[in-house]
Formats: sequence, structure tokens, C-alpha cells
Amino acid sequence: MQTQKATAIAHPNIALIKYWGNRDEALRLPANSSLSMNLAALATTTTVEFRSDLNADSVTIDDAEATASARERVIAHLDRVRALASINTKTSVISRNNFPAGTGLASSASAFAALTVAACAAAGLQLSTDALSRLARRGSGSACRSVPGGYVLWDACGADAGDEDDCSFGRTIASPDHWDLRDVIAVVESAHKATGSTEGHMIAGTSPFQAARVASTPERLERCRAAILARDFPALADVIEQDALAMHAVMMTSVPSLLYWRPATLAVMQAVRAWRTDGLAVAFTIDAGPNVHCICPAESSAQVERLIRAIHGVERTLTSGVGQGSRLIPW
Ligand code: PMV
Repeated sequence: MQTQKATAIAHPNIALIKYWGNRDEALRLPANSSLSMNLAALATTTTVEFRSDLNADSVTIDDAEATASARERVIAHLDRVRALASINTKTSVISRNNFPAGTGLASSASAFAALTVAACAAAGLQLSTDALSRLARRGSGSACRSVPGGYVLWDACGADAGDEDDCSFGRTIASPDHWDLRDVIAVVESAHKATGSTEGHMIAGTSPFQAARVASTPERLERCRAAILARDFPALADVIEQDALAMHAVMMTSVPSLLYWRPATLAVMQAVRAWRTDGLAVAFTIDAGPNVHCICPAESSAQVERLIRAIHGVERTLTSGVGQGSRLIPW
């Protein structure tokens, strides 16, 4: 029996400027550019082994056999790697998250980043970070932002660049130590979300607000990039809340309507705004789920955690600093 095996670790990322909607669904070319930070404390670790003794791929996630839809998506991604490496050997994939998957904590980003890096190494491919990011994007758009480290900009490339796979991938704009921001996640629900982002992207265009959101994103992206480079928290706070609300306005008004918020989601948002008015440096952002990501400088994070835990409906908090990119680890 011949085996080729590799293990990779990847962190999810929280988008500060959101990706929502694709201009090409098959290639996962986004409607707009986005910007995120990797989350060091949250991680997916994935081992991929190509095994000549297998006659079907086997996919295990968090110690259980993957659901049919997750398995199908993983196998489609393995097929991309097999095509690049000109092999057809079946694989065993074992993946573990140290955080709850499918609750707006971006498990698909770290999942497909780790899968890409491990599968390419196991298949004997030596790809650049840019090429790994581009390939991860095909599995889950936001996964391309978990391949490079720190603060990452994913360039949509613009429709005039053509719907080509080549140009759209994540690039680091600042390393993790550039600015010690924290994400204090208010977990208000740990159950699996009803509508995932893949379906959400497909209906984004049914909202009358999507075109306006996409058209106004470059200005917010530039403000956000400048705020990060200048470590300007008040400017960052304004722009990330505005951008998250623009995405949720699209979600709520798409057909069918996606309303991810719970009462506790709104309670945390209102509290964050009140604390900021009182002088505490903190701002919220929310992905495709009910949990609220409270972004703050490291020095405010202990107080932010304490205050959030006191809000009715918050199950617990998870706090993370800024993380590195995806990497191979010894097995
Ligand atoms: O990569 P996907 O298909 O899981 O989409 C991610 C969508 C959001 O998390 C809501 C926004 C983002 O930019 O990460």
C-alpha cells in the first residue's frame, strides 16, 4: 500500500469588510473585494492521506462521518487537487475544529484552507501562498483569506478583469503583530445554522440593496484598509459596523429573506454602541449567523468580555487575537 500524508492547521477569519454574493458561482469569484483578520485562538486541523488501498474517499469531521453535503463539497475540492497533481488515488480526510462549526464562526474558511494546504502537500504539489489561496477560494470563498496571515485583503479583481480564476486571492496587508486587536465573540447560539453562506450568496442578487452595497464597498474597503494601517480604532469601528449592517440589510431583504439575528444578537449590538459612546473602544460585526464578533484593542478585551457575559442570552464568549496563515504541521 502506498500512502502520502500531510496535516495542516488553519484559522478562521472574521471579515471586517464582507464578501456576500458571487459574480461567478462556479469559480466563487466574489461580487466585491473584502478584508479580514485571522483568528489565532480558533483552528481547524486537517490530515489528508492519499491511500492506494481505498476505493472511496472517507471524510471525518469532529470525530463523526461527514454529512452527505459536507462530504460532497470536500470531495469536489479533493478532485481539484487530484486534477492538478494528475492522480486519482482516494483519500482519507480527518478534520477537527476547536470551536463550534456552522454558527457564523466561519468554519468553512478554516476548513477549506486547511484542506487545501494538507491535500496539496500530501499530493506532492508545491504551490505558492497565492496559488494555495486561489485554490482554497474554490472550496469556500472566504477560505482564500485564511491562507495568508494577519490582516488579509481578497481582491475581487473587478468584472473588467474577466471571470478568470487567476486574479482573485487573498493577500496580507498587515502582519498579526501590526495591531493587537481582539475578537470577543458573543456566542448566543451554538446550533447549526439553517441557511449556509453558499445558498446565501446565490440569492444575494434578489435584494434590491445588493447592487448599492456592492457599488459602495470600494469606499468602505479603502477606509477600513487605511484605519488598519494607521491603527485608527474610531475610524475602524464606524466602517466595520456600517459594512456588516449593509450585508445584513441585503440578507434580510433577499428572497427568501435571511434573518440570522436573535434577540441577544441585537442586545449585544445595542450594548456595544452604548459602551462606545461611554468611551470604551469596541465595535461589532456579524457573519452569516447570530453570534456577534466584538472587535476591540487588546487593552479593552477583558472589560468587553466581562460586560458581554452579563448580557441575557449570551451563552459564553470566545476571545481571539490576530492569527497567522495556514501551515503544515508535523504528524
Ligand atoms: O466563504 P463563505 O461562502 O462561507 O462566505 C462567507 C460569508 C460571510 O462570512 C458572511 C462574510 C465574509 O466575508 O466572510
